[in-house]
Amino acid sequence: MKPDVTAFFDEATNTISYVVRDPAGSACAVVDSVLDFDYASGRTDTRSADAIVAFIKDKGWEVQWLLETHVHADHLSAAPYLQERLGGKIGIGDRITVVQDTFGKVFNEGTEFQRDGSQFDKLFAEGDSFHIGQLRGDVLHTPGHTPACLTYVIGDAAFVGDTLFMPDFGTARCDFPGGSSETMFASIQKILALPDETRIFVGHDYKAPGRDEYAWETTVGEQKALNVHVGQGKSAEEFVAMRDARDATLAMPKLIIPSLQVNMRAGHMPDPDDTGDVFLKVPVNKL
Ligand SMILES: [Fe+2]
Repeated sequence: MKPDVTAFFDEATNTISYVVRDPAGSACAVVDSVLDFDYASGRTDTRSADAIVAFIKDKGWEVQWLLETHVHADHLSAAPYLQERLGGKIGIGDRITVVQDTFGKVFNEGTEFQRDGSQFDKLFAEGDSFHIGQLRGDVLHTPGHTPACLTYVIGDAAFVGDTLFMPDFGTARCDFPGGSSETMFASIQKILALPDETRIFVGHDYKAPGRDEYAWETTVGEQKALNVHVGQGKSAEEFVAMRDARDATLAMPKLIIPSLQVNMRAGHMPDPDDTGDVFLKVPVNKL
């Protein structure tokens, strides 16, 4: 079955959020939503999320799932905001516990921060399946960028998060805590083993040399032929050497510090302190 896919591009973080609908009905899911955040002022904004709310309400669709491909390090998730307005269950990979453990330590979270994934409604493992109306979704565990990364294969469409990007841009970085370029290579092979005509929807786009428009949809066949990092049957050794060298030159994403603290809580802010105000931490010399 071919789901109906609508993309929402957030230029501030180069993130693509998707609304995925069962073509036989009104059931839908939202993949990787964005809560706008201005770090300088510490203010959130719901413009991006409100565009998705308005779109879905206008269509009269029913949200069944709010799917996260991983704990994003470059934008805050709007999943709880969308859930309040549209319903749906928030899902992520079950290895979220590893990510929560790692960053629970980095941010010196107390014991009140649960590291069992219980902030999410559903933890998915490799091989799990779910439904959006009549449409079946299958879960691939595709770690490498982070330990908990998932690819959601829904009908003929694969939502790959930060694994493969557009063929002319290549792949996602593997240098965050718990990341691994060797693991990423193996995960990418799983995605490339899907049928050639499988539509691939990427989690980010940054344009690419010779391309001035943002793009987010490609296919498995195109990735195998054209991906600049893994196409044409590149070896694991070639990929790992290239990826590790390139990652060593990359700056941290601007919003990594607030993003991790919020996204490891399923998109919720930390609890208010005794004044009733909410604070995010900045760990000094730890990332
Ligand atoms: Fe990411």
